Amino acid sequence: MILVTGGAGFIGANFILDWLAQTGEGVVTLDKLTYAGNLHNLDRLQGDARHVFVHGDIADRALLERLLAEHQPRAIVHFAAESHVDRSIHGPEDFIQTNVVGTFRLLEAARQYWQALPAPEKEAFRFLHVSTDEVYGTLSPTDPAFTEQHNTLPNSPYSASKAASDHLVRAWHHTYGLPVLTTNCSNNYGPLQFPEKLIPLVIVNALAGKDLPIYGDGQQVRDWLYVGDHCGAIRRVLEAGRPGETYNIGGHNEMTNLRIVQGICALLGELRPRADGRPYASQITHVKDRPGHDRRYAIDAGKIERELGWRPAETFDTGIRKTVQWYLDHPEWVAQVQSGAYREWVAQQYATA
Ligand code: NAD
Ligand code: DAU
Repeated sequence: MILVTGGAGFIGANFILDWLAQTGEGVVTLDKLTYAGNLHNLDRLQGDARHVFVHGDIADRALLERLLAEHQPRAIVHFAAESHVDRSIHGPEDFIQTNVVGTFRLLEAARQYWQALPAPEKEAFRFLHVSTDEVYGTLSPTDPAFTEQHNTLPNSPYSASKAASDHLVRAWHHTYGLPVLTTNCSNNYGPLQFPEKLIPLVIVNALAGKDLPIYGDGQQVRDWLYVGDHCGAIRRVLEAGRPGETYNIGGHNEMTNLRIVQGICALLGELRPRADGRPYASQITHVKDRPGHDRRYAIDAGKIERELGWRPAETFDTGIRKTVQWYLDHPEWVAQVQSGAYREWVAQQYATA
């Protein structure tokens, strides 16, 4: 079986559901269930003997040692992180604790476990670290897309903490020989994404008749990838990636934030028109910009395509339609995640906008 950290979050949960459907191989999920972790994301696995859920912290070394000894995983897929840039600006400490200290503890536990494995299992073991394109910093409109050779130039507390974890992972390979793989992926969207991130926030706010907040001029560019494609890329890297290598993952889909929001408004107008017949785009509001806001991210995913034959299956049009439809079909999921803690965050983040 494999050990997945952060499996109750957005990408981790999509990964586990896809993994069990595609491979059938067992999964132990370790998740602290922070505000972003939601056990309902794994509801479909209730009673499925192939899945074990463990509530705990990746920074808890004793727990990690117990889990590894008991379940003897052949691989660790490490998603657990504090993941929201705006939250890292308001309160960076949790980001250092989980993304840096937590990853360090996980690496140490993995190293101890891996070193004691018999030769064939030791050879086959993999530690896959899920990271982000944000570690590379920001691009001008004419710069070429990020390759794996791009310097690490993080600009936010979040991206700095992820870059730090990438460096630790690299060093544990270089110094100790731990068979690691690192993936640096662009912006994901799809089912089960917590509505603090742009796309689900806009869908949920639009349906609730609320403002659709665009930071600054809305001309910032992100490279959007459907979450199912990210999960497929991770499976492929785990299967065939070369230990010690990093692989960029992207959607070949650069779009400005304003265009994304206008596109969602148009789609909602088609699938669930407003009762008063007015366009959802009338809810768009420009608010103050994110401090240190990176202007543009773009991923050159040529290496994973050349070496491992991976390309995204979804276009933005097909992926965003599936996503909007999923949120329309799951009002109970949205209501459940919009708990008191969620409302407090929204009040704080958009209060002075
Ligand atoms: P998320 O915030 O939705 O989920 C994170 C999960 O980690 C939650 O279930 C949370 O409870 C858990 N967690 C947090 N701290 C923990 C700890 N100390 N111990 C155990 N579990 C803990 O995040 P996501 O969007 O699913 O991102 C998953 C990973 O992918 C992150 O490492 C993130 O940096 C990376 N990533 C995300 C994107 C994106 O667009 N969302 C893109 C590229 C890379
Ligand atoms: O690039 C990969 C990264 O993508 C991941 O590593 C992060 O975990 C993930 O959160 C995401 O970071 P971003 O900051 O790009 O995503 P977010 O959805 O927060 O914002 C996307 C863009 O939209 C960004 O330019 C900020 C803008 N934005 C966001 C929100 C929440 C707005 O204009 N208004 C908003 O209310």
